Amino acid sequence: MTVLGGRRPTHVLANAPFRRLWMAMSVCSLGDWLNLLALTALAGNLTQGDYRVQSLAVGGVFIAKMLPAILLGPLAGVFADRFDRRLTMVAADVARFAVVLSIPFVDSYQWIIIATILVECVNLFWVPAKDATVPNLVPKEQLASANQLNLLVTYGTAPIAAMLFAALSVVGDVITGLGSFPPERGATDLALYVNACAYLVSAILIFTLRGIPKRDGAISTPSVLKQVIEGWRFVGGNRLVRGLIIGMLGAFAAGGAVVGVAKIYVEALGGGDAAYGVVFGAVFAGMALGMFFGPRLLRELSRRRLFGLAITVAGLVLVAIALVHNLVIVVMLTVVLGACAGIAWILGYTLIGLEVEDALRGRTFSFLQSTARVTLLLVVAVANPLAAIFGEHTLALGAWSYRFDGTNLVLVLGGVLAMTVGILALLHMDDRKDISLAADLIAALKGERFPAESPEHVPGLFVAFEGGEGSGKTTQARLVAIWLRDQGYDVVQTREPGSTKVGMRLRAILLDAAERGLSARAEALLYAADRAEHVEKVIRPALYRGSLVVTDRYVDSSLAYQGAGRSLDPKDVSKINAWATGGLVPHLTVLIDTPPEVGLTRLGGAADRIESEPLEFHERVRKEFRALAAAAPERYLVVDGTLPSEVITRQVQDRIREILPDPVPRESEDVTGTMPAIRD
Ligand code: TYD
Repeated sequence: MTVLGGRRPTHVLANAPFRRLWMAMSVCSLGDWLNLLALTALAGNLTQGDYRVQSLAVGGVFIAKMLPAILLGPLAGVFADRFDRRLTMVAADVARFAVVLSIPFVDSYQWIIIATILVECVNLFWVPAKDATVPNLVPKEQLASANQLNLLVTYGTAPIAAMLFAALSVVGDVITGLGSFPPERGATDLALYVNACAYLVSAILIFTLRGIPKRDGAISTPSVLKQVIEGWRFVGGNRLVRGLIIGMLGAFAAGGAVVGVAKIYVEALGGGDAAYGVVFGAVFAGMALGMFFGPRLLRELSRRRLFGLAITVAGLVLVAIALVHNLVIVVMLTVVLGACAGIAWILGYTLIGLEVEDALRGRTFSFLQSTARVTLLLVVAVANPLAAIFGEHTLALGAWSYRFDGTNLVLVLGGVLAMTVGILALLHMDDRKDISLAADLIAALKGERFPAESPEHVPGLFVAFEGGEGSGKTTQARLVAIWLRDQGYDVVQTREPGSTKVGMRLRAILLDAAERGLSARAEALLYAADRAEHVEKVIRPALYRGSLVVTDRYVDSSLAYQGAGRSLDPKDVSKINAWATGGLVPHLTVLIDTPPEVGLTRLGGAADRIESEPLEFHERVRKEFRALAAAAPERYLVVDGTLPSEVITRQVQDRIREILPDPVPRESEDVTGTMPAIRD
């Protein structure tokens, strides 16, 4: 395939050396996850019998896995820069292979912990060497996609590893049944063999990879703790970032609580290693779903609100997981939990990308990465011992009994923490304070972006005049504006279409009789475009200044003319207009209701594009105007347009007087100083 105008950009995976490195990363990640699963399961199995010991044993593995990176991270980074990177990686892979392979043979809990620490120390060399190699193999402009792929395999292999582990457990059970393995060990041993082989494959892939420069450009890895402290100083002052980070860490902690106690919890529910693999996989499968669909979900809802909501729901689900004692339901809820965490994570990342300024962004991300690690460590470090201290309990009420163990407690606490954090995030960074969350959510569920912006929250007063052709609304709008000005109000009198620079050009297109070929949708969009400009440049600024805005035509004209008149779907017209106006609704709409046969005869001069439509068109328009008014009588005044002009004027004034912001002085009073206070 050729693309005009330049070389077709090749995908970063078309780059053979990078592809090879990426494959090595993928097998290693898969191996790492399998390793975590196998070792936690093995630790649980080796200490079976005593609930407390078992909880501590599983927690010990997690801690052994995370401690080296936190304590020795910076040291290893420095070392990695001194050695040949390719050889470093190969040597590290071979070392990991040997250590992991030894675990099934040594068969002791102590060795699991020592081996875990050894493997993690080796990882400290492998990872920076790999990270430093990527920019050597990939041109600058492809670095971002290389990093994405990197992230994809780091987390994407987790559910695969979980499935593999579940499958190996089944195979393991069969082999154990044949008597060639010690009982209870089939699954974990097999997983460890596969894990060891993954490192070996990586070693071979990297050994045969040419083109890794020996070393150039040192990469520095500051200590995690230093990053955390410095980062917080930097990002803590920004309200949005603070909200995002607290929320994301909360989501992370909730997920961590599940992963941390899953082995023991699943066992209490009567599940074995295969079930553990499934629960573990469910978290990540859910996360993948959430990350994929999250940005598409409830598109109409403010992202910040969805973020807080996702975390709060995650907390609720976690509490449910803790209390339901049914493995199948737990697995299903775990997927939901993962999805919520995934949504929060991806939205948080995107929000940081979108809303945090350039200079802060890099630090925010690295702060997040390091705090996420520390949080995970803390959660796991606290979770298992806490579960162990609490121990096993059974509530008995007559024949009914309910088991509530330390793991249940940890999960409930994790859930409550996530809910608290979610609510904090909701409060902290709400961007639509004037609209209740429930109203926003209901509107979003219906697919409407902007629930009406409640007019009371705008300082000024917004009045629209609507009506058919020749209804006399333009005259009335003018009279009202003069009347209001006479009383000392700051009045902006305006009209649609054509009250802005761009609007004038749109108006010319719209009303030009020669434009007969204009499609109905294009027409609707052009009116909406004019309105968007009108709202942003004229109406909203005036309202926020505290002025009174009187407009000749607004959204209802589009609903009547384009919706009913041109027979477009009224929902669509409503939606594009809600979008165009940001949901701004007038405090009052005055409908001058005139039968078209009367109105049309009042018109002088050549008919424009719309005026020259047939009578039925104008009938439909009138009917729609009346229907709109009938649907929300509190926001409308309908006046009979065939009445004498003065009578209409009086009716309009009477109604407007009721809603004027400040008490209207009687005609005889001095009007100076009665401008509405400028509230802002
Ligand atoms: P205009 O000359 O302003 O006349 P009027 O006094 O009737 O307002 O013309 C506006 C025309 O545009 C009018 O025929 C109605 C039509 N129109 C729509 O079809 N949709 C809209 O959203 C708006 C604002 C106007």
